[in-house]
Amino acid sequence: MNLTIIGTGYVGLTTGTCFAEVGHHVTCVDNNPEKIETLLAGRIPIYEPGLEELVKKNVAAGRLKFTTSTADGVKSGDVVFIAVPTPPQPDGSVDLSFIEKVAREIAECLTPEIGYRVIVDKSTVPVKTGEKVAETVRRYAPQGVEFGVVSNPEFLREGCAVDDLLHPDRIVIGSNDDRALALMHKVYEPFVAPVLVTDINSAELIKHAANSFLALKISYINAVSAICEASGADVEKVAEGIGTDKRIGRQFLNAGLGYGGSCFPKDVKAFIAISESLGTPFGLLKEVERINGDQLERFLAKIREKLWVLREKKIALWGLAFKQNTDDVRESVAIRVAKKMIAEGATLIAWDPEAIETSKRFSGITEGIEYAPDMLSALDGADALVIATEWSHFANVDLTEIKKRLRTPLVFDGRNLLDPAAAAATGLEYHSVGRPAAG
Ligand code: UGA
Repeated sequence: MNLTIIGTGYVGLTTGTCFAEVGHHVTCVDNNPEKIETLLAGRIPIYEPGLEELVKKNVAAGRLKFTTSTADGVKSGDVVFIAVPTPPQPDGSVDLSFIEKVAREIAECLTPEIGYRVIVDKSTVPVKTGEKVAETVRRYAPQGVEFGVVSNPEFLREGCAVDDLLHPDRIVIGSNDDRALALMHKVYEPFVAPVLVTDINSAELIKHAANSFLALKISYINAVSAICEASGADVEKVAEGIGTDKRIGRQFLNAGLGYGGSCFPKDVKAFIAISESLGTPFGLLKEVERINGDQLERFLAKIREKLWVLREKKIALWGLAFKQNTDDVRESVAIRVAKKMIAEGATLIAWDPEAIETSKRFSGITEGIEYAPDMLSALDGADALVIATEWSHFANVDLTEIKKRLRTPLVFDGRNLLDPAAAAATGLEYHSVGRPAAG
């Protein structure tokens, strides 16, 4: 099929590339000419394992094209996906101005000669956005053009986006139009996954409800971790004990510093905002947010308690990305920890396998931080080590190196990556989240 994706951000680029990989002919449109130049040169503007190879392969095969022209995209694609940003507004509600603008642009490119087009919303949007998109296209399109509107939310995780896209758990298609539905079934024919067909509003809700539920799971286990700390229990054992119940599941029950990233914080806020605007406030999610913020504060309190004063302390920080396998520092809890420690006068020596450059450019931290050339040299002469992101590099470290290089052998592990017994046996004073110290 001929498909068009408008917006080559995280979702647009990965989705377009994976559609090309399964055999579709895909045109990716972006209004940023520099980005299109970069992509045409075979470079990708984000770090995502496996993506660059797939982009190169599919460009070479003639199945993946990049352009700045929405008109070309609308002309060539039977199905036009909207994958533009939906950033938060100061009150937590979603700024839908990019979606509205693209809907207008698509409408203006439609002509009766082009024929029927399916307009699919891939971006994460509040319920009832599809209705607005349909209204907007109808208003701005010339008389007589035919189109259908679909909601097709994306469930990819950064860091494993290619695999999530090629092997999804499920595909959700929200549509009130049989013609659009038939074309969407063709789009997803090459994928082996259950397809759930719903009305547009339900599909939109599924996305917010799924992300909020996952955030809720994380806050749940983090609240349990606080009780574990107060009682001497071990949150890892509790997570295992409850997670082996199939109805609960072990995933997303890793206690730590809380959730971050460009999705959960924004989507939980947006779901709260839309629930309030519909007159059905979702108070539980406010508690999810509160627990998430408290988790970070409890961790910082532990650091303060042990170091007493942070001023003039040199602290090694492992991890800047919002999670492993990404260079993304948006809403990163690691960055929030860093900012708080710097504000209290500490100097940080930070290292991350992928996110040093993005931290330099986007974290907003300009003082109080140096970036180490490698993981171990970040430790040299530091008063403590803080682990803030769940990279496997940190879990597999030689503990004797930590002991040898730190000035005082204090370790604060915000992601429960190290083994408390092994840390104690190496002579480290080890503090993690919701687990008793060994030895
Ligand atoms: C999330 C969802 O998992 C995807 O299904 C969804 O498609 C995506 O948002 C989106 O809306 O686009 P992502 O933000 O890439 O994906 O990252 P996750 O792997 O879900 O992690 C989010 C945060 O939760 C990270 O800060 C991570 O460290 C934290 N987390 C995750 C925990 O603290 N504990 C856990 O057990 C799991």
